[in-house]
Amino acid sequence: MIRPAVHDSITKLVGNTPLLRVRLFEERYPDLEVYAKAEWFNPGGSVKDRAALAMIEDGERRGALTPDRVIVDSTSGNTGIAYALMGAAKGYRVRLVMPANVSSERKQLIAAFGAEAVYSDGLEGSDGAIRLVRELVAEHPERYFYPDQYNNPANPMAHYLGTGREILEQTEGRVTHFVAGLGTTGTFTGTARRLKEHDPSIHTIAVQPDDAFHGLEGLKHLPTAIVPGIWDESLADEVWGAPTEPAYELARTVARREGLLVGHSCGAALWAVERLAARVERGVVVTVFPDSGDRYLSTGLYRTRP
Ligand SMILES: Cc1ncc(COP(=O)(O)O)c(C=O)c1O
Repeated sequence: MIRPAVHDSITKLVGNTPLLRVRLFEERYPDLEVYAKAEWFNPGGSVKDRAALAMIEDGERRGALTPDRVIVDSTSGNTGIAYALMGAAKGYRVRLVMPANVSSERKQLIAAFGAEAVYSDGLEGSDGAIRLVRELVAEHPERYFYPDQYNNPANPMAHYLGTGREILEQTEGRVTHFVAGLGTTGTFTGTARRLKEHDPSIHTIAVQPDDAFHGLEGLKHLPTAIVPGIWDESLADEVWGAPTEPAYELARTVARREGLLVGHSCGAALWAVERLAARVERGVVVTVFPDSGDRYLSTGLYRTRP
């Protein structure tokens, strides 16, 4: 009999997410296998648990994070939830700077874990939040532990040691293509680095929104944004721009047809997978589904049309 595991902390449940077969394109491309890492199985409900835990534990090891310090960072939402959860589990205070227009589910989740929110101008997006957190830290550097997810090597390292290794294990090394969205770029960079180290012929495609004004929460349009220090362009064979509305439609379709209630950025990943499928028609494609659609119900992503 296999007994369910017993853990001494919720933080032990981060990573080792399931790899799910996605059958949406199977009829058209029977020789193509598509899989997605179901990152909403992380305890905080998103891929960002991996990076948040890795950066906090790296800070503890280096002595930069001590019990008297407040964890502070800018986040468009999922990293904030992850910091808030890890902070609650480990006994740290957490202060998060985010654009005022992030979804109400995200704001409520952060409050539920006892973290404090500071809002930046919604029109300035994630860059406005980055500028504001830098001001806060510059005023009182002694008060804070500022992981700086855009420039902290522990962020991609979480994916190098976790996501990338897991994909190789779960596909038994059969993966031929890797597709992932760009936010801080940690997921793509760390995972692609691990996959390319294993086999340089694994083809990697990074996905960003196709325009500065987009509706793909969690993703960043690099040509018009502050480029993250951890971004390593050499790991991307191609960078594609995903359109918002077709990405939403794919998110809705995969919910209806496969029972996968996914977030916007998963729709963008699927848009890229479909385009890739039309080109290659065969292979083992792995992508990452960063979070679940229940985090976006108030945004209307799944509202049925009259
Ligand atoms: C919903 C969603 N998708 C994708 C990403 C991108 O992940 P990364 O920051 O590792 O590039 C994020 C990051 O915040 C996210 O919240």
